[in-house]
Amino acid sequence: MYKVYLVSSFLLGLLVLSQAQANDNKIGFYELKKGNFRLNLTNYGATVVSVIVPDKHGNLADIALGYDTVDGYKNDGVYFGALVGRVANRIGNAQFTLDGKTYKLPANDKDNTLHGGPTGFGDVVWTVKTHKEDSHITFTYHSFDNEQGFPGQLEVSVTYMIIGTNKLGVRMIATPVDKPTPVNLAQHTYWNLRGHDSGDILSHTVQIFGSKITPVDDELIPTGEFQEVKGTPYDFLEPKEVGSQIHDLPGLYDVNYVLDPSSPQHLRKVAIVKDNVFGRKLELWSNQPGVQYYTSGMLKDTKGKGGATYHQYSGIALETQGFPDSVNHPNFPSMIVRPGQTYKHYMVYRFTAS
Ligand SMILES: *[C@@H]1O[C@H](CO)[C@@H](O)[C@H](O)[C@H]1NC(C)=O
Repeated sequence: MYKVYLVSSFLLGLLVLSQAQANDNKIGFYELKKGNFRLNLTNYGATVVSVIVPDKHGNLADIALGYDTVDGYKNDGVYFGALVGRVANRIGNAQFTLDGKTYKLPANDKDNTLHGGPTGFGDVVWTVKTHKEDSHITFTYHSFDNEQGFPGQLEVSVTYMIIGTNKLGVRMIATPVDKPTPVNLAQHTYWNLRGHDSGDILSHTVQIFGSKITPVDDELIPTGEFQEVKGTPYDFLEPKEVGSQIHDLPGLYDVNYVLDPSSPQHLRKVAIVKDNVFGRKLELWSNQPGVQYYTSGMLKDTKGKGGATYHQYSGIALETQGFPDSVNHPNFPSMIVRPGQTYKHYMVYRFTAS
């Protein structure tokens, strides 16, 4: 009798547990707030929906592009605010070879795989692991073997946390369970420091702490070379308006910068973006070797939050990450993670105004 009771309460426990798991997989919106700094996030794609910060007069605005509804995110082709992976950016010819085995992936960007494939991490429902409104939220995702063609199971977590005053930390962790796999996660928020619905970012000033780029072919796949930016339209070593040389380029800025090294133990300074009208400034640090600088050249009549329509150049994305297509370029830093190893990606954003 006693045994039966034990067994059935164990089963009941499992049932309750799996029920809780199922509830966790409902799509919801979650807030983080401290003082005037407020974020809205969803577990659909571990996505940043809005970021509200004051300008130099103390006026608040939402400076992240996004949608009003979950459906907006489900039908999004531009990855607003999403956490992209298993491998962010492009993999040329949608394939790579690892330990002598060739993996074919679904192509979703011409013949290439972009941001993890047609149903990458930005298009799956994450579990809300912990949420404390004035502090942090952690989303987790269990990626299965062969998901979007990638080898092995992968446990992923991303934590968004408010640090001090108007600082946002992002911590991405991934551990392969059973097979080596490439891992390259990226946060894909589009910023417009004057307000998400305020028009273009061409007069924002940008500084990027990278003296080289990894040039790309006409499908935006790296050639494998490195190119010094000094004196070219890619040169943002000193602060410069986004639009000052944008039309000298066929690609309108959609390229990976090789970030200059920092002292060990420290995050690298990645970039500083400033709106000179209302004075908001974003500074970004990360432990990653590269940053994709994308000035939303491909945005076109996208219906966004609160009736806004986003056009070309409505936002800037600064996606810290490993180099694009590193799986096919042995001279790029390897993004292969093996069982027993842990992928760790840190970002810190600081928002100020003056
Ligand atoms: C977060 O965003 C969603 C979608 O726009 C909205 O429905 C929800 O009210 C927002 N939550 C907060 C606290 O602003």
